[in-house]
Amino acid sequence: MFVKIAGTGSFLPERVVDNFEIARKVDTSDEWIQTRTGIRTRHIATDETVAGMAAKAAERALENAGISPEEIDLIIVSTVSAEQSLPCIACDVQKALGAKRAAAFDVNSACSGFITGYQAAAAQIKAGLVKTALVIGSECLSNYVDWTDRGTCILFGDGAGAAILKADCAPEDIQIPCVLHADGSLGEALTCSLGHGKHKVPFDEYYRMDGKAIFKFAVRKVPEVIREVLKMSGHTADEIDFFVLHQANKRIIDAIAKRLRQDESKFPMNIMDNGNISSACIPMLLDDMNRKGILKPGTKLVLAGFGAGLTWGGFYLEW
Ligand code: COA
Repeated sequence: MFVKIAGTGSFLPERVVDNFEIARKVDTSDEWIQTRTGIRTRHIATDETVAGMAAKAAERALENAGISPEEIDLIIVSTVSAEQSLPCIACDVQKALGAKRAAAFDVNSACSGFITGYQAAAAQIKAGLVKTALVIGSECLSNYVDWTDRGTCILFGDGAGAAILKADCAPEDIQIPCVLHADGSLGEALTCSLGHGKHKVPFDEYYRMDGKAIFKFAVRKVPEVIREVLKMSGHTADEIDFFVLHQANKRIIDAIAKRLRQDESKFPMNIMDNGNISSACIPMLLDDMNRKGILKPGTKLVLAGFGAGLTWGGFYLEW
């Protein structure tokens, strides 16, 4: 028995920026961006904030799950792009929802953040500490994008995705087929400084990235972690209906599908419309699939993410 997702929700800012608009700012083209990444458009926040988008996605997830804010025991928000360091975004969400009973904290493992949040919440449910948890990925990556750097500004977007976690069995019967990894020695592949502090870090205040290094890392490590998750859950790749992966680059997802010898149709994508929204990608994709009726009771999923840190991880989920 597993910790289930009982409801999902997402939020995207209204403003859509297409590749042509970006090509007016930096030396690139719609053709280059689409061929090398799969991205056509991304949503960019105007008035929206990380906390505001998180709360809107959460309201939709609560409605989808048919539960009230008072039933939530725990709120975890994953973000790397908040406008504030205090209070944490999860506390802002708690206030906005009126989820008075909920404990609240943020996590930062970048684009693996939804996996980290799921594992932390599921472990608390298994320990009997909480019954109902809300896990959110919310990002306003445009806060930290250098719009003169064509190596990064083409990739990122803004938005939020949320999921309600609940167990449908006694805590002692819960299994958590979830794996998290990190390799801090590779951290310089994707950096950003907050610009404050007595001891200034040798990083820029914008996202700086070694795209090639991350590409190679993802194509190697994501299939590995998926195999670990499959082993833990006792399934083969062929038995999985969908692999819901972090949306960083269509070519990365295609290469992972090939390495796992699985048909590309088992790898749903929203990167074409949304770009890379870090920890929001996976819950937003899950919400898309949920609302389109693709996820039926018993549908078998493996979710996996990778990102700055470097971090990577995945988990098995039955709908
Ligand atoms: N438009 C046009 N040309 C571009 C460009 C752009 N936006 N960005 C880079 N180029 C150029 C480079 O300058 C280079 O030119 P050169 O051959 O004359 O030196 C050429 O295109 C190839 O660059 P390269 O970096 O090798 O391209 P790539 O195929 O690796 O694609 C990324 C670059 C960033 C799209 C790709 O590496 C990627 O997606 N990496 C993963 C990033 C990621 O996932 N980050 C988030 C972690 S969650």
